[in-house]
Amino acid sequence: MTDIVADRPRVISARPQITRRQSEQTGLNDAVLTKLVHAFYGKVRSDYVLEPIFAARISDWEPHLARMVDFWSSVALMTGRYHGAPVPAHTGLAVTKSDFDRWLALFAETARKVCTPEGAEHVITRAERIARSLHMAVEDTQRVCSHAVPALRWQQENPMIDTLPIHDAAELTRHIETRYHARHREQLPPLLKLAEMVEDLHCCDEGVPHGLFELLRRMSGKMEIHMKKEELVLFPAIRRGVSAGLGARVAAMRADHDEYGRELVKIGRLTQDMTVPDEACISWRTLYSGLAEFTDDLTEHIRLANDVLLPRFERMVGGKDGITPVI
Ligand code: HEM
Ligand SMILES: [Fe+2]
Repeated sequence: MTDIVADRPRVISARPQITRRQSEQTGLNDAVLTKLVHAFYGKVRSDYVLEPIFAARISDWEPHLARMVDFWSSVALMTGRYHGAPVPAHTGLAVTKSDFDRWLALFAETARKVCTPEGAEHVITRAERIARSLHMAVEDTQRVCSHAVPALRWQQENPMIDTLPIHDAAELTRHIETRYHARHREQLPPLLKLAEMVEDLHCCDEGVPHGLFELLRRMSGKMEIHMKKEELVLFPAIRRGVSAGLGARVAAMRADHDEYGRELVKIGRLTQDMTVPDEACISWRTLYSGLAEFTDDLTEHIRLANDVLLPRFERMVGGKDGITPVI
């Protein structure tokens, strides 16, 4: 008789296959990474600039080296072995860009000696990205003297008073520009930095929004083009009362808004509707609270444009361009 329980398909993690594939492609494995970490910190400890920074924090090197092997195993081979918090370990350090460059130069030199060319490339690219994120976190802490990651300053500044000029199309276009376009331009750059940082630093953690940075980057590029078209062409035409050619432009803007609506659904899916895991660090929490505000603003912006502004020009009297909109 068939054993139903034994036959039931089990949920199998893809991690071991990914680790095996990455190991085959790069020649990296536990032994190579251990050698890399030990050789690298050997150099760090005889570097007159970096050594004092480490010496002030680390007296017993063995646990640090073991943690760093776990870290590199997680980052390079996706083994999920590392569960630490790199950002707070660095934000209190008085380090500058030139210290990070020095760290990276030593790391690259060691990797090229210890690893295959593919393996060296693999770890160096990751080290550079993580160094960039750590450096940003360090700079921000030094600037604001607190553990605030690329601070989402728009959250505290300029509380906007929403008085909606819904009966005046020209006023409405101005309102969309000042309340929404300007705000999105403030919101997106720090959110991009944070998304990159969170994806890099928590690359192997449960619930990490893989692909969020790329999605926001694409969205930000498209939104800039879209907003420019509205600000330079559609909105001035509406304000001047010119309606020739408006129909096609209005349809194109609605199509863009609909696309953002679909991107918002993707953001919700990637972030489990902005649910932060209990153990999430401050960058992760800041990212999701900023993202929640951005998605609320964008939703309201789309609603205002699609439901209030654009229909006036879609329901033209006579159904053709060049005819007075129905107000
Ligand atoms: C200027 C360059 C850097 C300096 C001076 C530096 C220094 C340090 C120090 C002193 C610690 C120990 C902190 C403690 O235990 O109190 C540490 C931990 C650590 N560093 Fe760096 N670091 C640098 C760059 C990097 C980079 C580029 C990476 C990654 C690619 C990295 C990854 C880590 C990790 C994973 C830990 C362990 C954090 C933990 O789980 O406790 N560091 N670093
Ligand atoms: Fe728009």
